[in-house]
Amino acid sequence: MAEFTLPKNSKIVEGKKHDATGKDTKRKKTFKVYRWNPDDEENPRLDSYTIDLDKCGPMVLDALIHIKNNVDSTLTFRRSCREGICGSCAMNIDGTNTLACTKSIDDVKSDVKVTPLPHMNVVKDLVPDQKHAIAQYNAIEPWLKTDSPPPSRERLQSPEDADALNGHDGHGPAGCILCFCCSTSCPSYWWNGDRYLGPATLMQAHRWIADSRDEATGERLDQLEDPFKLYRCHTIMNCTNTCPKGLNPAKSIAEIKKLLLARR
Ligand code: SF4
Ligand code: SF4
Ligand code: FES
Repeated sequence: MAEFTLPKNSKIVEGKKHDATGKDTKRKKTFKVYRWNPDDEENPRLDSYTIDLDKCGPMVLDALIHIKNNVDSTLTFRRSCREGICGSCAMNIDGTNTLACTKSIDDVKSDVKVTPLPHMNVVKDLVPDQKHAIAQYNAIEPWLKTDSPPPSRERLQSPEDADALNGHDGHGPAGCILCFCCSTSCPSYWWNGDRYLGPATLMQAHRWIADSRDEATGERLDQLEDPFKLYRCHTIMNCTNTCPKGLNPAKSIAEIKKLLLARR
C-alpha cells in the first residue's frame, strides 16, 4: 500500500544554530542548510548559520565556502569550477534547483534555504548520490560513433551543422553541463526514474543524434523508442524552467519524438 507520510527517521528536524556575526556586522544573512550524516542514527536537520555578508562573496556557494572555512568545517557539499561550468554545485536553493555558484545571495529576500537536489538519495548533507543518473547517461553511449574510415584530419562540420548542437544563441544541447537540476525537477523522473531516462540524459542523447558527424542515429533512435525511456515525458516543462544554463531539454525531447514519428 502506498505510504503518504515520511518514516519517522526521515523527518527533517530543527538543527543547530550558529551565529557568526559580531556587534559591528552591518549585513547579516541566515542560511538554513540541510544536514544529514549516514554515520550517525540521527534524523536529517536544518542547521541555521547567520553570517556577515561583508566577509564573503556574492553567491550562495561563496556563503557555503565561508561557512565551511570559518563556522562549521563538517558541512559537506560538492563544487569545483565556481563558474557554472562543471555542474557539481547543483542543489535546491530557495525552492528551486540551481547552481550555488551562479545563484546570487541577494536574489533571496528572506533566509536562504539550501537542500540537496530532490528525489535522489543523499550521500551526506548537500551531496546527492548520482550513480543511477550517471549510469543512465552512460547507457546512451555519449560519444561519437562512426563506421566510415577516419579522414586524414578531424571530422569537419559546417557552421549550420554546428548550430544544431550549439544553438544560434549558444543554448543548444551541447551547452548542457549535466548538473541534473532538470531531471530532479521533473515529476515523471521522480515517479519513474528507474526506467525513464529524464531530461538531462535525453538532452544528451539528442546532442549526439543532432551531431552531423555521428553515424549511429538509427541505432540511437532504436534505443530510445520505448514507452518508459522516452515517452514518460508529458511536457510539463519543469525541466526547461529550472535549467540554470537557460537550455531547453523539453525541446530536445520533442525533437527526438519528432524524429521517431518521421521514420515510422
Ligand atoms: S517536459 Fe518532460 S522532461 Fe521536462 S519536466 Fe516535463 S515531463 Fe519532465
Ligand atoms: S539541461 Fe540544464 S539543468 Fe539539465 S543537466 Fe543540462 S545544464 Fe543541467
Ligand atoms: S562549482 Fe561548477 S557549476 Fe558550480
